[in-house]
Amino acid sequence: MAHFVENGQSLDIVHSLAKSRDELFSVCKQLTDVCVIVLPASKDSSQIDQPLQGVGDLIAEISKNLGENATLVVLGEVIDLVQVQSNIPDTFMYQHWIAIKRENTIDGNKRKLPHQHFGALVYTHYKSSLRHTKTRIKYTYCPVCDKTTKDYGGKKHTYHEAGTLISDVWRDISCNLNGDLGEVFKRFADLFGLEPYKTLTVIDVTQIGLYRQMNPIVHIDFQENELPQELTNLVLNGDCIEKLRTIPDNSIDFAFVDPPYNLKKKYSGYSDDLDIQEYFNWCDEWLFELSRVLKPGRTLALLNIPLLSVRHFLYMQTILKYQNWLVWDALAFPVRLIMPAHYTILCFTKGESRELPCFTGESTHIRLSSAPKTFNAFEPLADGFCLRENCVDTRIAAKIHDKTKLTDIWSDIHRLKHNSRRVDHPTQLPPHLMYRIISIFTKPNEVVLDCFNGSGTTTLTAHQLCRKYLGIEASEKYWHLSNERHQEIRNGLDPFRKMERVLTSKNSPVPRLEKQVYKIPKKTLQLEVKRVAGEIGHIPSRDELKQFGKYPIEYYDKYFVSWGEVTAAARTTGMIEDRKARTQQQTSQLRLLENKTDF
Ligand SMILES: C[S@@+](CC[C@H](N)C(=O)[O-])C[C@H]1O[C@@H](n2cnc3c(N)ncnc32)[C@H](O)[C@@H]1O
Repeated sequence: MAHFVENGQSLDIVHSLAKSRDELFSVCKQLTDVCVIVLPASKDSSQIDQPLQGVGDLIAEISKNLGENATLVVLGEVIDLVQVQSNIPDTFMYQHWIAIKRENTIDGNKRKLPHQHFGALVYTHYKSSLRHTKTRIKYTYCPVCDKTTKDYGGKKHTYHEAGTLISDVWRDISCNLNGDLGEVFKRFADLFGLEPYKTLTVIDVTQIGLYRQMNPIVHIDFQENELPQELTNLVLNGDCIEKLRTIPDNSIDFAFVDPPYNLKKKYSGYSDDLDIQEYFNWCDEWLFELSRVLKPGRTLALLNIPLLSVRHFLYMQTILKYQNWLVWDALAFPVRLIMPAHYTILCFTKGESRELPCFTGESTHIRLSSAPKTFNAFEPLADGFCLRENCVDTRIAAKIHDKTKLTDIWSDIHRLKHNSRRVDHPTQLPPHLMYRIISIFTKPNEVVLDCFNGSGTTTLTAHQLCRKYLGIEASEKYWHLSNERHQEIRNGLDPFRKMERVLTSKNSPVPRLEKQVYKIPKKTLQLEVKRVAGEIGHIPSRDELKQFGKYPIEYYDKYFVSWGEVTAAARTTGMIEDRKARTQQQTSQLRLLENKTDF
């Protein structure tokens, strides 16, 4: 078992096979705890874009029969979960889209990336954040240096010896939707093992007569056009829809968009807070324009969170053909609850996709200095290998193969964390994410378009990879920023190089703290909170820390952004990264925990 539960009691797992819809609804009527519906899998790659007929209505009907505190989990292919999400009644609250690694990858026949995940949609009948146990995934150790896969650096005291909290990408287990899902059921039974729940009922609906709907074959026979010279290799300043309308039909080889999510981010000169219907109508307008300008057989890729991707999917499938739902596991580490850690990169093509340049050999991996040494556009770092510089160097020197096959789950690209790599934009993407995307979908000299170009990550990486580019950006500030950075490339500089910068924007509502010299190291202060917690038997409040702690409370006020950060070490056991160096004491502590919680 790759997970570990800190609190709670595992639910009893009951299996039920429904042979008809009536039987199914009557089973559901009695369910007040956790209900898991398993939808049929697609047989092969040809079925990946064929939805099960009526699956949205079916799950909506099931949900109406469930008890008022019930949790509903639907396991299925992406194409089916999209229908489920778009039909679920609003009496059920969307909680998570969990991507689960598939054991047998479905080949994409060179026109798609191989499919290596299915999903679990989690809903609750109650309207609050998901109630679940503290479930931890065991640390994995790099086979070369024997240290934890993630480098916890100076923060080991704030992590837990039993592992890291669960996120919404499950890569530590792998199974098939039409195979043995025991590990997935066990994980949900542990995850939801809190009062008043007692049972988890798994309902197999594969025998009630659900059929996949064939898609009509669409022949796209448009003439490709050249992008005019005056629109090539530049970034336009203005509104995306207005500027897109100036681009000829069928003249773009690849379009990528990372639009504003309407999540109240603080952009310069743009309100990220529209009415949701107004927001989606606006999105449909630029999606329509993007599909118009795309050449036949080419890809439009859209980055978003899974929930919003569902709505984009529904519109895009009316004008384009579904290609891939890429899971970018951006490797956030959850603190308390399951944390959404992944983004979707939704790929649709204009008509049937051409064979992708990454598979035909017309695009090759280009090594760029701003990407990590371990990065390869077509061969991701295999799960389990660490990113510690000395270990990476050892692997390179010893020619140790640490790469894996490219599929539709990417877990080797982190979000930008260090200020030295950031410019003044709140949602800047890591350049190597774009190196991979552009290298997969385009050949050198082809045209890449981004109509929400922001700080310029897309057009800059396209420029570096010798593609033609066209960017559109509404904010004058970001437009200037990207133009300056393109000029750097022309001057032989890497715009993604490390630099000392003073940044004002931040992708988080948490205020930025002034740079400061710490009189007492933060680690010492956090360990002091842990000592106080041990003494008084609970996590101290600010007043208690002031009373029982040995350092002035002002240090805590000044050095930390939240009380959660102050108490981080008090909430965990602390851990040791080096497997061999784990002391006898810590191993036995963990054993005690394991025995207590039926590990
Ligand atoms: C999520 S950010 C893109 C970040 C970009 N991928 C990067 O790495 O820097 C979205 C961008 O869209 C811009 N934007 C918002 N509304 C726009 C519009 N109507 N037309 C063009 N750009 C717009 C915002 O100013 C913002 O820079």
